[in-house]
Amino acid sequence: MHFSTKIFPQAELGNQKSLKSSLNTLLAQATDCLVLAYSKADLKDFGSGKAAKAKLGLLAELDQLLGGSISNANIVGDLDAKQASVCVLRAEKSWSANGVKAKRVLLVSLGDLHLSNDRSLTAYSKIARAALKALSGSSIENALWFIPSFSLAHHASFIADEVRLTIQYAGDQAYRFGVRQPAMKFKVKDHADTLKHLIFAGNNACSKQLKDAVIQGIAMVEGMNLAKDLGNLPPNICTPTYLGKTAQSLSKKTSLKVEVLGRKQIEALGMGSFLSVTQGSDTPPQFIVMRHQGGKAGEAPTVLVGKGITFDTGGISLKPGEAMDEMKYDMCGAASVIGTMYAAALMKLKKNIIGVVPSCENMPSGSATRPGDIVKSMSGQTIEILNTDAEGRLILCDALTYVERFKPKAVIDVATLTGACIIALGHVHSGLFSDDEDLVSALTKAGQVSLDTVWRLPLDAAYHEQLKSNFADVANIGGRPAGSVTAACFLSRFTEKYKWAHLDIAGTAWKSGAAKGSTGRPVPLLLNYLLEQS
Ligand code: BES
Ligand code: MN
Ligand code: ZN
Repeated sequence: MHFSTKIFPQAELGNQKSLKSSLNTLLAQATDCLVLAYSKADLKDFGSGKAAKAKLGLLAELDQLLGGSISNANIVGDLDAKQASVCVLRAEKSWSANGVKAKRVLLVSLGDLHLSNDRSLTAYSKIARAALKALSGSSIENALWFIPSFSLAHHASFIADEVRLTIQYAGDQAYRFGVRQPAMKFKVKDHADTLKHLIFAGNNACSKQLKDAVIQGIAMVEGMNLAKDLGNLPPNICTPTYLGKTAQSLSKKTSLKVEVLGRKQIEALGMGSFLSVTQGSDTPPQFIVMRHQGGKAGEAPTVLVGKGITFDTGGISLKPGEAMDEMKYDMCGAASVIGTMYAAALMKLKKNIIGVVPSCENMPSGSATRPGDIVKSMSGQTIEILNTDAEGRLILCDALTYVERFKPKAVIDVATLTGACIIALGHVHSGLFSDDEDLVSALTKAGQVSLDTVWRLPLDAAYHEQLKSNFADVANIGGRPAGSVTAACFLSRFTEKYKWAHLDIAGTAWKSGAAKGSTGRPVPLLLNYLLEQS
């Protein structure tokens, strides 16, 4: 899938004088489909015949240039004011007589969006999705998406959000499993999406925002595709070593600096908690560190930490068999960090960012950790492991101690940490835990503009009570009540040296059932956060 921009300097639909020539210019482009948005008011004017007088509206002008195609569509009831309803007009003989080269015109209704102040972009996303769906699965290979028709009465900063969101959705629609992964040559069943090239057309007024947003959107899709591929790959292929190699391969494609530590180095660092999880597995653990140096040399970095359990059986506290295959997705935190680092490098973000991934398998065996074992974390705190299935926090706590050395501006960890988070928030929002109000509001906002949303859950001292151990400094589980909160509380004990937020993506990282597959979340959230900070 390709995305690009094209600027038509004078095309400006809002201005009555230039309306006709703008439409003429757009229709004269050789495209499989020109995508234009209209409002409820446009349709009302058109239907009432009011527009037929001196002042022609958008649809009436179009109707003239398209030889009555719009009137015909309206007569049979194909034009609807309802938000997100779409109508595809196909070329007729009369079109070419008027110099129209577009093979189709896709009209999509904004409803009342042009009047609203809905900054959450929910309405826009519905409209964009409907138009993208109509473009897919037909013989349309390229389309020209005229941004000013969507953003007519909007705030300028909306354009960037809208464009990134459109690319995000188009990328989602075009995603096919594994086609980019060298390990997955045997999967050829899926056909590529028919839509190959989406061109965003703009005018002088939005040219800069449009170009920047398209570059950012393209990078975001690359990062999401990588995160999805890594998530979807089977656990016999996507091992800690595979994650490490993938990260390393990115340093050849971009300016990322990547370092991968093996067991010996992890031992030397004193990561007794992390090592206790990998103990039962024959697959070696890896500790991945990725650096993007886009800011000044001494500038404090933002650090992302991702849970990289490439398969979670639960260990000796074995999970039930049902849907256990989905525990291949237990490295989605890692995948989103690797994907975000890749995208940040492609975007050339002017910021220092470090991505850290502790990765291993959680397996039962004769050498596996037992419930009741006590281990010493890198921080020096001892941990009584009461349940070997609460392993995510055990690998993350050592990574959170490790990142102190970077003197971070902020640390955000991302993890498929608790089933309890799915019970609390379902598959809609990721769980957000933080005591830092600035981080909370920045992440919440980044989620809203990317429709990759988060919901804050508590982190109070009272919950720490549940983690008390009679034999060690802390227990690794806090019982069933508020399972996601006590997991976050456990992590917080290792984050005292910096500003920190934790994202529990157990309910949002992948879909189950017939649509089983990785979502690429929270790559859009993280990138929007980083973009906003730079
Ligand atoms: N990876 C799981 C969490 C998970 C489970 C995510 C199902 C998505 C779907 C995690 O390692 C885990 O097993 N957590 C336990 C914690 C419990 C033992 C305190 C859980 O949620 O049951
Ligand atoms: Mn587990
Ligand atoms: Zn897990």
